[in-house]
Amino acid sequence: VPKMDKLDEYLDVAIDLAKQAGQMIIEWHRKGSFEVNIKSNIKDLVTEVDVKIERFIFDALKQRYPEHRFIGEESVDGSNAHLTWDEPTWIVDPIDGTMNFAHFSPWCSVSIGLAIKQKLVLGVIDCPHLGRTYSAIKNGGAHCNGKPIRVSSINELEKALIQSDLPFGSSHSKFQNYTTKLFDSIHWKCQGFRSVGSCCVSLCLVAEGAADAYFMHGLKIWDMAAAYVIVNEAGGFICHINGEDFDPNKRNLIAACNSKLATEIVDRFRDAKQ
Ligand code: IPD
Ligand code: CA
Ligand code: CA
Ligand code: CA
Repeated sequence: VPKMDKLDEYLDVAIDLAKQAGQMIIEWHRKGSFEVNIKSNIKDLVTEVDVKIERFIFDALKQRYPEHRFIGEESVDGSNAHLTWDEPTWIVDPIDGTMNFAHFSPWCSVSIGLAIKQKLVLGVIDCPHLGRTYSAIKNGGAHCNGKPIRVSSINELEKALIQSDLPFGSSHSKFQNYTTKLFDSIHWKCQGFRSVGSCCVSLCLVAEGAADAYFMHGLKIWDMAAAYVIVNEAGGFICHINGEDFDPNKRNLIAACNSKLATEIVDRFRDAKQ
C-alpha cells in the first residue's frame, strides 16, 4: 500500500470522476433516449452511455496516470478481466445496473475501484439518482457524501433485510432447482427480501446499514472491486458463497454486516446444494 497521501490523491480523483459520470447518467435519463445493444443475450445489454462513461473515466485516468493498468467492463478483451498486475490497476464499471438504466429505473451506479500489488485499496461508487457517493480507502473508513458510515448490527436472519438479484446464475434451467430451494430457505426466513438490480447499490446499502446482507453468483471483478473496500471499511464481512476467503478473481460473494449473518447464509447455501 502506498503512502496515505498518494491514496488520498487517488480518492479525490476517483470521487470527482464518479460524480461527473453519475451526472452523465442523470443527463441521459433526462434526455430520454439512447442506443441500446444486446451483448451475449437479451438479458445482457450495453448502451451507448455505458461506453461513453467508460471512455470518459479511462481517458481522464490515463492522462493523469499513464503508467497504471485498467480493467473496464465495456473494454475488456476476455483475458484482462482478472487482477494479475502489481502496478496500480483501476477497475471500472461505468454503469452498474445497465438493465435498470435502459428501463429508466433509478437503481444504477458508477463504480471505480483501485488495486495495488493485487490488493483492493480504494472504492468509489456514485449512485446519482440517490444523490449518494460512497467512498473508502484501506484503513481510512468508509464514507457517504463525506460522512462516516457503518454496517448494521443485525445478526439473525429473522431480523435481517437481505438482498440478491434475479436471475441467479448463468443458465436458468441448470440452477432452477438449487435457486428455488435456496430462495425458499432464505426468502421465507429473513424479515425482508429485496432485489435492486445493481449489485454496487446493494453492497453500498449493506455498508451504510440500510440492508444487512447481499449475496450473488456470476459477478465479475468490476461488480465487486470498489464495493469490497467500501463494505470492509464500513466494518462488514465478505466471503464467498461456500464460506471461503474472498478473492476478487472468483465470481460470487456474500457481503454481510457481520460474520455470524454471513455464516448463516453460507450454511443455507450448503443445505440447498444437497
Ligand atoms: C449487473 C448488476 C446486477 C447483477 C449482475 C451484474 P451490469 O451488472 O450488478 O445487479 O445481478 O450480475 O452483471 O451488467 O449492470 O453492470
Ligand atoms: Ca453488463
Ligand atoms: Ca456491473
Ligand atoms: Ca456495467
